[in-house]
Amino acid sequence: MKDYMAPMEGITNHVYRSAYHRYYHPMDKYFTPFLSAKPDKKLSFKEICEVSPETNEGLHVVPQILANNADDFINTARILRDKYGHKEINLNLGCPSGTVTAKGKGAGFLAFPLKLDRFLEKIYEGLPDMDISIKTRVGFDEEEEWDALFSIYEKYPVKELIIHPRIRQDFYKNQPRLQAYQKAYEKRTLPLCYNGDLFTREDYVQISGQFPDTECYMYGRGLITDPGLVSQIREGSHPDKDRLSAFHEEVYIRYQKLLSGEKNVLFRMKELWSYMGLSFTNYEKYLKKIRKAQHFKEYQAAVSSLFAEQELIFGSKDDTSGENAAGENTSVKNIPGENTWN
Ligand SMILES: Cc1cc2nc3c(=O)[nH]c(=O)nc-3n(C[C@H](O)[C@H](O)[C@H](O)COP(=O)(O)O)c2cc1C
Repeated sequence: MKDYMAPMEGITNHVYRSAYHRYYHPMDKYFTPFLSAKPDKKLSFKEICEVSPETNEGLHVVPQILANNADDFINTARILRDKYGHKEINLNLGCPSGTVTAKGKGAGFLAFPLKLDRFLEKIYEGLPDMDISIKTRVGFDEEEEWDALFSIYEKYPVKELIIHPRIRQDFYKNQPRLQAYQKAYEKRTLPLCYNGDLFTREDYVQISGQFPDTECYMYGRGLITDPGLVSQIREGSHPDKDRLSAFHEEVYIRYQKLLSGEKNVLFRMKELWSYMGLSFTNYEKYLKKIRKAQHFKEYQAAVSSLFAEQELIFGSKDDTSGENAAGENTSVKNIPGENTWN
């Protein structure tokens, strides 16, 4: 089995994934949030940090590219190969954001299957020495588009097809459309990776039971909410609160070194807590204080009291049953998503 960390703009950057890799079950691959392909592309400092081996030591990182112009995609891929040594890249066909889809990119590209087909033909021809994987939704307006889209993907040597089985119009609402994933699964013509709503070990057990030949899983919001999720799935025990505290400390310190000013650091940390907070019992009043903090001092006080006074709801150290260690409701269906990335 292989486990991948999902690309999440503003969250799963090099700071987060390096700290994650040190404290939790290592992922087989870490996908970067998307880099926009442009003519005469020059990588920004932020993008260089995302793809450079120096800032991602020991991690298998796959850069993701957002594009609908094949030449721009190829040029950007060559920079990633020649300057940063990447042999594998990923194409974003899933971003539902209005500003992205309006330009016919991300999930917006799915609405133009003929153009997409020509684009894929060009990039696979133009980059014969690189592995290109695709991360896709299963349609733009409706699920009925999926058969035609999948037939297009089948024509190319797609390294891996990562399927988030929602259509663009779902954004993050509704349930994953498992019948669409099933269609691709039954054909077995491309290596598949499942992505979508793996929030708990039970979710993983259910999906892997339904699609037993799927060997690859990608985790996004569930993993950010509970960084111990994949450790629990693969190792059978859930890392404890001390581990989470040490992990948090490392992310916090790394951001302080990287970013200037309390405001920028706190912005990043608050975004993280909008997920991670939900893994604690009675988190509301602590999250409120974290959200309101303007300075490190208030922030640290709020975080310290959360760690001191509350427990993790996702299993204890030796929990293999998947039951809630604190005996509380483990529902994580209020995990953000619908409004954070659109
Ligand atoms: C805040 C946020 C940022 C995201 N950024 C990206 C991105 O840069 N590239 C991408 O392909 N998907 C992105 N996604 C989508 C996730 O990678 C993933 O496909 C989606 O969240 C479904 O998986 P999950 O249910 O495990 O979270 C983002 C999602 C969120 C919520």
